[in-house]
Amino acid sequence: MAKRLEGKVALITGGASGIGEATAKLFAKYGAKVIIADVQDELGHAIAKEFPSISYVHCDVTNESDVKNAVDGAVSEHGKLDIMFNNAGITVPMQYTSVLDSEKSHFEKVFGVNVFGAFLGAKHAARVMIPAKTGSIIFCSSASALTAVEFPISYASSKYAVIGLTNQLCLELGKHGIRVNCVSPFLIPTPMLGNAMGAAVDASAAAEWVAAASNLKGVVAETDDIAEAAVFLGSDESKYVSGLNMVVDGGYSKVNPMITMAMRGVRL
Ligand SMILES: NC(=O)c1ccc[n+]([C@@H]2O[C@H](COP(=O)([O-])OP(=O)(O)OC[C@H]3O[C@@H](n4cnc5c(N)ncnc54)[C@H](O)[C@@H]3O)[C@@H](O)[C@H]2O)c1
Repeated sequence: MAKRLEGKVALITGGASGIGEATAKLFAKYGAKVIIADVQDELGHAIAKEFPSISYVHCDVTNESDVKNAVDGAVSEHGKLDIMFNNAGITVPMQYTSVLDSEKSHFEKVFGVNVFGAFLGAKHAARVMIPAKTGSIIFCSSASALTAVEFPISYASSKYAVIGLTNQLCLELGKHGIRVNCVSPFLIPTPMLGNAMGAAVDASAAAEWVAAASNLKGVVAETDDIAEAAVFLGSDESKYVSGLNMVVDGGYSKVNPMITMAMRGVRL
């Protein structure tokens, strides 16, 4: 196994579950020292116990002193921070998809984690990366910010904002040698997706539903597919890549099957 991240130090918010957990484990496999920053202490500690190169810090990304503490802890433990993956994210359930069902409080809650949390992660990472004149900041948006789908508008809007953060920081931090990119996953069966769809939907039903909605058939998107994209963006293999929104959606956001579906309907 090539050690694509040998010598790198990475902080991953929301690393105790789903995409973040898969990324933490893959980063460690490729040789990185990883710090998981999350609010699910039991899960985070259990992963750190299993993987010697992964440690855990309690960090609510909506709390600036927690984020500052996580970044400073990474630097004091490992001497630097090379990769900041602002991955922590939440949504409200699907029943709050429509504008009339959406509340200001939904936007405050979702933007608090997905946008303000990602901003704080990037800000404190930049604080330690600027003097080092190098670093890779990775955001996590979503295919739902590329094509409008019936998903909670507070969530989709927050993911558009994350692409905005990526573009703005690509400009600002480029002169300091810091790359800023984003990964945008398609639907991946994780606890977040389960929560969005409601407790009635179990993991295998969710996977079936995702496969049916997918443009690319014969493969099912998994957390590791997103983790692989993050490895590329964090590693020196992407040393001249900045401002990229790496869309990992099997082509979903590029296609619009509505005409075909309507024609099939007419033929029937
Ligand atoms: N699963 C999908 O279908 C999908 C699709 C597109 C984008 N995404 C994005 O991927 C990212 C990871 O989501 P996931 O699907 O792995 O979900 P997940 O629920 O499995 O993981 C999210 C993690 O974020 C953590 N978190 C939540 N609030 C936090 C806070 N305030 N501070 C620190 N950590 C916090 C949770 O504890 C959890 O460990 C999110 O940004 C999500 O929006 C997911």
